[in-house]
Amino acid sequence: MSEAPAKPKFNRKNPLLAKLKNSRLLTGDCPKKTTWHFDIDLLGAGLEYTPGDSLAVLPQNDPELVGELLATLGFSGDELVPNPAKEEVPIRTALTGNYAITTPDKKLLKAIAERAPDAAWADLLEPDKKTDLANFLWGRDVIDLLRAHPEVTFEPADFVALLKKLNIRLYSIASSQAANPNEVQLTVALVEYHSHERKRQGVCSSWLGQRIGSDTPIPCFVTPGKGFRLPAPDQDIPVIMCGPGTGIAPFRAFLQERKATAAKGNAWLFFGEIHEEHCYFYHDEWEAYLADGTLDKVTTAWSRDQEEKVYVQHTIIEQGADFWAWLERGAIFYVCGDAERMAPDVDKALHQIIETHGGKSAEDAAAYVEQMRTDKRYRRDVY
Ligand SMILES: Cc1cc2nc3c(=O)[nH]c(=O)nc-3n(C[C@H](O)[C@H](O)[C@H](O)COP(=O)(O)OP(=O)(O)OC[C@H]3O[C@@H](n4cnc5c(N)ncnc54)[C@H](O)[C@@H]3O)c2cc1C
Ligand SMILES: NC(=O)c1ccc[n+]([C@@H]2O[C@H](COP(=O)([O-])OP(=O)(O)OC[C@H]3O[C@@H](n4cnc5c(N)ncnc54)[C@H](OP(=O)(O)O)[C@@H]3O)[C@@H](O)[C@H]2O)c1
Repeated sequence: MSEAPAKPKFNRKNPLLAKLKNSRLLTGDCPKKTTWHFDIDLLGAGLEYTPGDSLAVLPQNDPELVGELLATLGFSGDELVPNPAKEEVPIRTALTGNYAITTPDKKLLKAIAERAPDAAWADLLEPDKKTDLANFLWGRDVIDLLRAHPEVTFEPADFVALLKKLNIRLYSIASSQAANPNEVQLTVALVEYHSHERKRQGVCSSWLGQRIGSDTPIPCFVTPGKGFRLPAPDQDIPVIMCGPGTGIAPFRAFLQERKATAAKGNAWLFFGEIHEEHCYFYHDEWEAYLADGTLDKVTTAWSRDQEEKVYVQHTIIEQGADFWAWLERGAIFYVCGDAERMAPDVDKALHQIIETHGGKSAEDAAAYVEQMRTDKRYRRDVY
């Protein structure tokens, strides 16, 4: 009988408090995008991961945003409130480290609506208006809602009881422990946008990239990558990896692992970003892998280096004959990155190649893709 896998040592309730060792910008001086590479020190604490896993990170809110929220509420920050563990802490501490202050919970919306009879959005709280509510809330945070209704006031403890707990964010691990036994490495894009006259930043991406120092504890644990796994190194199975943007992360882990284990099958990487000059993440590493045979092919797509958008799916189609030949040799096709736009377009390209180069009808191509899924030869980790 095979042994059950050992229970991970660290989890949500008992995270490892790791430390940042190094960080560097992967996007150079690109004015349009900020993506970092992080080396996180596991402090010899025994956190284990496999390429394809993600790291769950519990961030802290931006103290400036907490200050703005306190001022909006008319609180000093010293008022004592219960944290989720029911300990009394100053509200500034609770809003920084314990509660979600960007995305408003429905409880808070209901409480504001009850206190502000003129809230025109109150009917969006009906169960059948979920999409309209999501559209209304897109780009609005807790401060926007409070400022829209200055007549609404709360007692400090009542206010925090209306907030969600600050939640973890997942990051695909960009390293292999075979190559970096005591580190976990990440590729993280800063979420940044303007909305309702204020600059907004993602909680965790800005915390990791802009607010932590080498002494800041990073609460983290591993979440397993359901089926996003390499074949065994002695299996002669080709792998095709498509990871534009931060989608590259797990494939860097895969390639480090392939090198460390002298994996047999061929490997082909598709990468895409906005500009080749600023955003060719890990370029020197791919060149070294091409030279030593860890990688056989790299195909790139730079979306903003010319008038027309060029995306990974365009280069996949361009390389269709070769792509089809790899599929027919039993290749596993992995896709990681944006779920909303990229992954569906890459899926269409996959069907198109099978039709064009496999000489199949649309129906037969769909059946081929379905068989790939059944055989675990089409694996996606998209977000
Ligand atoms: C399995 C998995 C793996 C992942 N791997 C990676 C990875 O390797 N690298 C990586 O960078 N990310 C990765 N992510 C995404 C990551 O988990 C976070 O979602 C991301 O970093 C944003 O978190 P944040 O806390 O910075 O932003 P948040 O504070 O969570 O803000 C994001 C939210 O802001 C809002 N928003 C964003 N843009 C706009 C806009 N233009 N207008 C209005 N509102 C907007 C949306 O509500 C969005 O959900 C992964 C996600 C999953 C599920
Ligand atoms: N939902 C959204 O509107 C949106 C927008 C941006 C980022 N995101 C999210 O932000 C996170 C980080 O993004 P990221 O930095 O990893 O990179 P990303 O925003 O996914 O961009 C990486 C590359 O993919 C290109 N791209 C855009 N649309 C595409 C499509 N339909 N098919 C293929 N490629 C496409 C981008 O081009 P261009 O940017 O030049 O079009 C860019 O060259 C991800 O979670 C992503 O889902 C979401």
